[in-house]
Amino acid sequence: MEASDTFIDGLMGQLPFDIGTDEFLQNPYRHYEEVRRSSGPVHRTPSGDVVVLGYPEAKAVLSDPRFGHGAQTAQDATGYGVPARTFLLTDPPGHTRQRERVRRAFTAREMLSLRRRIGETAAGLVAEAARSGTADVVAEVARPLSARVVAEVIGVPDDLRDRFAQAAALLVRGMDPPAVLAPATRERIARARVWLARDIGVALRRPAGTGILRALAQGPDGRAARAETVATCAQFVAAGYETTVGLIGNGTHALLRHPDQLAWLAATGPSEQACAAAVEELLRFDPPIQMAPRCALEDADIAGTPVPRGTVVAVLLGAANRDTRVFPDPHRLRLDRRPRHLAFGLGSHYCLGAALARLEATAALAHLLPRRPRPTGPPVSYSPSRVARSVQNLHVRLHPLDT
Ligand code: HEM
Repeated sequence: MEASDTFIDGLMGQLPFDIGTDEFLQNPYRHYEEVRRSSGPVHRTPSGDVVVLGYPEAKAVLSDPRFGHGAQTAQDATGYGVPARTFLLTDPPGHTRQRERVRRAFTAREMLSLRRRIGETAAGLVAEAARSGTADVVAEVARPLSARVVAEVIGVPDDLRDRFAQAAALLVRGMDPPAVLAPATRERIARARVWLARDIGVALRRPAGTGILRALAQGPDGRAARAETVATCAQFVAAGYETTVGLIGNGTHALLRHPDQLAWLAATGPSEQACAAAVEELLRFDPPIQMAPRCALEDADIAGTPVPRGTVVAVLLGAANRDTRVFPDPHRLRLDRRPRHLAFGLGSHYCLGAALARLEATAALAHLLPRRPRPTGPPVSYSPSRVARSVQNLHVRLHPLDT
């Protein structure tokens, strides 16, 4: 999902709804539902591209190797003068090799060792945010928690952490198709790519690297290999920072709008186990990544609908997560569901950071809920991104802990 020459670009003008409006950002699900009612789970645009709104159909595309990324133009965004593609946009076998290089940073053992620190960080941030009695959950809890944890996992040196976080905010806009971005925004994203690539290069040359940077620094040498390393690291920056902010922000917002569910969860203690289960329903209900783009690499079909080679396919994860055939009463938040949602995608590109994001959101809820959060202040606004969905502000009243 780079900001130029992506196949999804042409599709944007063909979508059966206007994704650029504030009204769409506030509630995309109403629009998905209308299209599903008129076209069914697979919608074909006038130019023959395909929008997938159904759950079984989305699963079929994401787990079918006939759908991939193909020969999108690789970018020279790394400063090494060699085009390199992030592995999110690469098909096997290149994808498999690149993913294997970083998989070690996300093993169950690594997650276990991070869990305590994530809990302590969340506790500290919530206590600090609660000090004045009101807080913006996004700015004071979700964003700093996500930034600290992902910086640790990547191994970003302390002096570069702010710059990586700033780049992340811009890179996430770069996941949008270029056609929907203003020229000035495209320019800022391009500049962020250049400065991030330079910073990654600096961090990689430091001998005492940790995390993903260390795993990558030990890889093969040469310009092409280095360009790939930088692209892979930039992928983690783009994928890791804002998505988790979206999960904590959207999730807390959903709970505040469903006071019965909030009260039910709080009454469990809230136990870490109940919070972890609640996170799954929150991921189903309002996922931070709404779309996974694919292209038919050969003549294929989606649940029997023929799809010729070269067809662009937009899998709408947020729509699939509300498919009535799979989730009864899908527009209701029900924390007693155990949903097998598609918020982290599926198949070979399944999110590498899923366990990490789950740990962070669970810790944030477990520490926020005992403070009995109640909505206050201005209404929420959403990130203008078309692919990532996250509330940008969430003002709440927080109470002292009951003793
Ligand atoms: C709630 C938070 C998150 C959500 C909803 C999310 C969602 C996703 C989705 C839907 C994909 C697949 C996209 C596709 O198939 O086209 C993906 C891939 C990916 N995610 Fe996440 N993500 C989250 C957090 C993270 C974090 C914290 C990290 C890393 C620190 C991360 C790293 C990645 C990477 C590296 C990929 C590409 C995997 C591949 O192509 O093999 N994500 N994510």
